[in-house]
Amino acid sequence: MEDSLEIRTTRDGSRTLYSHAFRQSFHSMHGALTEASHVFLEGAKLSELFQSRKEMSILEVGFGAGLNWLLTASLALRHQVSLTYTGLDLQIPNADLLSRLSYGELIETPPLAQHLIQWRGTFDGAVPSGTYHLPHDGGSILQLHIGEATTANLSPNAYDCVYLDAFDPKSNPILWTLEFIQQLHDTLCGGGCLATYSAAGRVRRALVTSGFSVMRRPGPPGKREVLVARKPCPADP
Ligand SMILES: C[S@@+](CC[C@H](N)C(=O)[O-])C[C@H]1O[C@@H](n2cnc3c(N)ncnc32)[C@H](O)[C@@H]1O
Repeated sequence: MEDSLEIRTTRDGSRTLYSHAFRQSFHSMHGALTEASHVFLEGAKLSELFQSRKEMSILEVGFGAGLNWLLTASLALRHQVSLTYTGLDLQIPNADLLSRLSYGELIETPPLAQHLIQWRGTFDGAVPSGTYHLPHDGGSILQLHIGEATTANLSPNAYDCVYLDAFDPKSNPILWTLEFIQQLHDTLCGGGCLATYSAAGRVRRALVTSGFSVMRRPGPPGKREVLVARKPCPADP
């Protein structure tokens, strides 16, 4: 099924998409850029991590229009970190929508946005299910798995960070089940963290039951709290 999507402008001036299928916007209407930076980049403490790492691997559940990837990949390029970013989604918005979101204007490295738009433009309609590799200058690789996220093959101890950016648990329950959260825990390396905007009680409980240490953080505008969950290192007591 191809979703019907509409561009909306959020309060910080950045744009987002509204999904008619899920009856929800891809980002907070209080500010798409503000939310993405606060919840995911700051939640995962990427600026700190990128100063001490040469390589990072990040998994995103709900790649959408790629705003989290663009902000992350642009920061990785600034720190000369070689980033492997894996995005899971049912579909990627078409090239015209991606272009009208103007996300290239929000980052230090606008060619990254152009790279995604050009790739998306090679498909007439929906992107067929499968795995796509989009290498980029500077050692960054974007891997996109188009299809149902819960059936993606997630190897154990494969990622340093997970961004869980599905639609909310009420409208998108399949991506917030204990079973799926357990898979996300298992695919993280010890010491890795999962960042998400949801602070719902059942999400927090599923994270704890899966073995994470869960911290509440103050949320971005319009949201009291968000969560960061850390997978303990094997050496932790
Ligand atoms: C909140 S939006 C993601 C926004 C995105 N991170 C961005 O920066 O633009 C949620 C995404 O989850 C995807 N999604 C919903 N259910 C899914 C499923 N079962 N498997 C894979 N992706 C799914 C939707 O297609 C949508 O793109």
